[in-house]
Amino acid sequence: MNPNLKLKGQSALVTGANSGIGLAVAKALANDGANVVVNYVTRPEDADEVVNQIKNDGGNAVAIRADVSNEQQVQSMFQQMYDTYGTIDILVNNAGIQKDSPLESMSLADWQLVLNVNLTGQFLCAREAVKEFLKRGIIKERSCAAGKIICMSSVHEVIPWAGHVNYATSKGGIHMMMQSMSQELAPKKIRVNSIGPGAIQTPINKPAWETPEALNKLLTLIPYGRIGQPEDIGKAAVWLASDESDYVNGTTLFVDGGMLLYPGFSTNG
Ligand code: BGC
Repeated sequence: MNPNLKLKGQSALVTGANSGIGLAVAKALANDGANVVVNYVTRPEDADEVVNQIKNDGGNAVAIRADVSNEQQVQSMFQQMYDTYGTIDILVNNAGIQKDSPLESMSLADWQLVLNVNLTGQFLCAREAVKEFLKRGIIKERSCAAGKIICMSSVHEVIPWAGHVNYATSKGGIHMMMQSMSQELAPKKIRVNSIGPGAIQTPINKPAWETPEALNKLLTLIPYGRIGQPEDIGKAAVWLASDESDYVNGTTLFVDGGMLLYPGFSTNG
């Protein structure tokens, strides 16, 4: 465990924390002293494994099941969190899915599922967290803010993505939701920001990195010349959750190896 704990005594909820980016964020927050709720919706054994890893490293964590797109399940998850840790200081709205297809064959069910999980899920969790932040206020021994929300967005809040219209739309929505929430809540000392990952090596984009050919093609989109690792996002999340970023409000921190730098123009145009 890190000796200069930035999140000591704070409680954090990370949605979708039993794999990929959420898993790394949960471990990074716990490693900096936060009590962490590892939210999951399927594969409870994976969530238990994350909790065990955190505990073995000397941290505190508990797994709580909830489908973030279900209002009642979200409310019950927050209640269970308060029963366990008393309150919430940090929400990482991470749970997200892809259901890719060409537009003409995209089903309404797949459109709605992606919007429900990726966008409505973030709204439902943010609303519950904000109720608690407003009720409790600032505890200055823990943080100079009344609460912090980190929305997991994507480079695709900016980069259009053919074949992924539902997903890109959800991320564009997260951008405006995050900024509107931040504008509304900054006067109450609640900080709302996003992280915009690029291509991070996780199960969600396995086809893009599992063969050398696919990986080489992907790397043409990444000026920094490597695929991102979940830990790259974990470190950014710790900073955005900590008082070190106290003056950062309503911003997307892109962690993308330069994917947003229009690499296609590096030898053309
Ligand atoms: C997607 C990944 C993709 C990355 C870069 C992410 O938001 O979930 O599948 O590799 O953006 O395109």
